[in-house]
Amino acid sequence: EKGNYRHFMQKEIFEQPTVVAQTLNSYIRQVDQSVALPQIDYDLSQINRVTIVACGTSYYAGLVAKYWFEQFARLPVDIDVASEFRYRDPVLEPGGLALFISQSGETADTLAALRHCRAEGQTIAVVVNVPTSSMAREADLLLPTHAGPEIGVASTKAFTCQLAVLAALAANLAVLRGRLGREEEAEIVRHLIEAPACLNAALDYDEAISEMAHLIAPARDVLYLGRGPDYPLALEGALKLKEISYIHAEGYASGEMKHGPIALIDDAVPVIVIAPSGPLFEKTVSNMQEVSARGGKIVLISDAEGIADAGEGCIATIEMPRVHPLIAPIVYAVPVQLLAYHVACVKGTDVDQPRNLAKSVTVE
Ligand code: M6R
Repeated sequence: EKGNYRHFMQKEIFEQPTVVAQTLNSYIRQVDQSVALPQIDYDLSQINRVTIVACGTSYYAGLVAKYWFEQFARLPVDIDVASEFRYRDPVLEPGGLALFISQSGETADTLAALRHCRAEGQTIAVVVNVPTSSMAREADLLLPTHAGPEIGVASTKAFTCQLAVLAALAANLAVLRGRLGREEEAEIVRHLIEAPACLNAALDYDEAISEMAHLIAPARDVLYLGRGPDYPLALEGALKLKEISYIHAEGYASGEMKHGPIALIDDAVPVIVIAPSGPLFEKTVSNMQEVSARGGKIVLISDAEGIADAGEGCIATIEMPRVHPLIAPIVYAVPVQLLAYHVACVKGTDVDQPRNLAKSVTVE
């Protein structure tokens, strides 16, 4: 089943160009470059607020989507992890869309949050990978990812497919709310269509990442930094590393470093900086320089231009294709996954079945 791959996780990382294309195909009409969601018995143009609830990697996909819903659809977004959401007393007003993101569709806390939101009269949208799951059955608006079965405990292809669906949903809500014209919608669609080829280009860096994994493997702690829609990738990178290599890692919004975590910096703590070219590049790089000025060892993930600009003095750089900021979180997921994967391989851990973890968390 693994074919030529050593692990399911590796196979699933490499499937991403195909499954993201597959997923996008069912949300995009290529002929007129428009976004088309599955039918729903509800007028989504009337939505006045979005509440996103998920766990783990699916939650990080939701965090990226928050930036998109705000930026494109100008919708206020509240987001929380399901285990917190359930036990606080969230304010859910009429006209709200409650959006649940889950690979398995069975995560106990997420499902309980869904039922709570239904009881509170919210419209229920679900981004889910298992079409026969409980969450899929209980949705008003079912938005499937077409990632195929994900076997590795570490979620990889489900994440990038979730992002693809969420970008399409953000564009669709923006159109319905009159925030995007036909031409702008077509432009977003054109960028999304570029994602699979960019994912392929990102995968070309696999060998280089495997060769630098020994730089990270001996570390006790690793920090990940990102900004804006790429900040959740810092969280995701840290989660992946913790989960499969058992190295302690934290993700921070790069601007938060100087509010505490920079005190951790010394030459034993590698800092992975996610900084695609774009409107936030300069700011992220200036945070990165604050870290290197204190002896931090930087791994910069950027495109050729970004690396030429800021790569000097880094212990390693990982070059990504130049991409539009909209699809950067999708494409930059690849180096973050590959880095965790190769570090875990150097450490010899059980990549597909990490200790203490289950693929689907069906207990609270
Ligand atoms: O099936 P779900 O997407 O609801 O699962 C949520 C989390 O348990 C999951 O993403 C977990 O964090 C992964 N193991 C991360 O790689």
